Amino acid sequence: MRPLTVMEKVTIFGIALLIASVALLQDKNNRQKQENRPNQGSSRSREYPLPTKAWGEGSVLLGNATDTSVEIAIHFKSNAEAVIEYGLSGEALNQKSENLSLKAGTPFQTKLTGLKPNSEYSYRLRYKKLGETAFESSPTYRIQTQRKPGTEFMFLVQGDSHPERVPKMNIPSLYERTLLTAKAQKPDLFICLGDDFSVDTLRERTKQTVEGVYTKQVPYLGLVGNSTPIYLVNGNHEQAAKANLDGTENSLGVWVQNARNRNFVQPAPDAFYSGNTEPVEHIGPLRNYFAWTWGDALFVTIDPYWHSATAVDNAVGKGPKAEGGGKRNRNLWDITLGDSQYKWLTKTLTESKAKYKFVFAHHVNGTGRGGIENATLYEWGGKDPRGGDLFKSKRPGWEMPIHQLFVKTGVSVFFQGHDHIFCKQELDGVIYQSCPCPADPTNSLINGDAYRSGDKVPGAGLVRVTISPTQTKVDYLRAYEPSAETDGHKHGEVAFSYLVKPSTGANK
Ligand SMILES: [Fe+2]
Ligand SMILES: [Fe+2]
Repeated sequence: MRPLTVMEKVTIFGIALLIASVALLQDKNNRQKQENRPNQGSSRSREYPLPTKAWGEGSVLLGNATDTSVEIAIHFKSNAEAVIEYGLSGEALNQKSENLSLKAGTPFQTKLTGLKPNSEYSYRLRYKKLGETAFESSPTYRIQTQRKPGTEFMFLVQGDSHPERVPKMNIPSLYERTLLTAKAQKPDLFICLGDDFSVDTLRERTKQTVEGVYTKQVPYLGLVGNSTPIYLVNGNHEQAAKANLDGTENSLGVWVQNARNRNFVQPAPDAFYSGNTEPVEHIGPLRNYFAWTWGDALFVTIDPYWHSATAVDNAVGKGPKAEGGGKRNRNLWDITLGDSQYKWLTKTLTESKAKYKFVFAHHVNGTGRGGIENATLYEWGGKDPRGGDLFKSKRPGWEMPIHQLFVKTGVSVFFQGHDHIFCKQELDGVIYQSCPCPADPTNSLINGDAYRSGDKVPGAGLVRVTISPTQTKVDYLRAYEPSAETDGHKHGEVAFSYLVKPSTGANK
């Protein structure tokens, strides 16, 4: 064989280099696609272990606490007859609920009434499993009834927990650690901002798989929920939305909202809670937006997903470019709280004389990235992004956009999730607080570019709000895995704090 000429050698080297570059580029593209696709159901992402420190027989989760009552969702692993024993904290458990008949794997909801306002109780489940003769007891947990004005209390807010994204945005052991830290703080209320029950990333969506998404969270939220009522706000990934109804009981919207309301106790309008009075066929009361007063504060949750005719964010089962499913051709004026919710929100915020007013939603307008960057737009702020003021023509009968309503009525803080970042911003005296994920192991500022102003702090954790007669303080409690702790940074540290002024709205 004749030796290769210099030109031939250069040509062969060039071709080899080209092939290597293309392979590298393809590999990079594939990795990027993988990154952008949060969870397409790898076997690893489907496995989510049980928390290691939970009670082994089941979970109990409080909800709908009032001045004189509380409701409890009991998830017991065995068939059993049971009773709840309870009493004022520090005294004997000398009161009993009615007899409860528990079935393995079926959530059971019950209500304790006749409690004293502004009081702490202890309670436990006493149970006798089918076929056994002896009664046994659960650990003893806590109930706090409504605080009276002027009483100090604390609540916690959790952003998107995304257990389906394990191990990227959620490490189960870190989630457990965060929730056990939450429990140890004895919060009166625990509010989840959505994307805690993602059903759109399921490979197959059936009534059973949707139920599984909800039951997966039960032992985790039960770590804090056994002693603190849990309040759920729907996120975009819950797909609990009007767009997912087809008029039958087998539509995704029905499965999701029923799984939510069966596994967790959530408020329907009564003498204590106000909220959505319009039942939906095959569901009943949606329990998707509600408000209540606790101590010196008004709490309000709002929801656009159940009141917009089209998908608010990602449409289930469709990529962002798909016809009818993507975000590209959306008209964000179609996203709305709806007339009834807007009227209720106006009445609730206007009539409340609370010293502090807190509003919770998954995100401004239910979609997008950023905080106050979106607060001037569409029904939230009235402006069209092209600059026109289209509010009056797009929302006939509405007195003012949502942000302006917040300003007028003295909303103290609007809490949102969706962006997985801690960022505190302020607009016209209203604080916009974006909340981080509780168990993301990275020390990153996800979506930080979308926030063009404000105090941004990296990492994961919870937002704690302490209300006292003299001041109200917001703290960012950082969550760290043991291996990530350093001398200067420990799990539970306060990474950022600020004070909230009392409401100065028109009603003060
Ligand atoms: Fe979200
Ligand atoms: Fe999220």
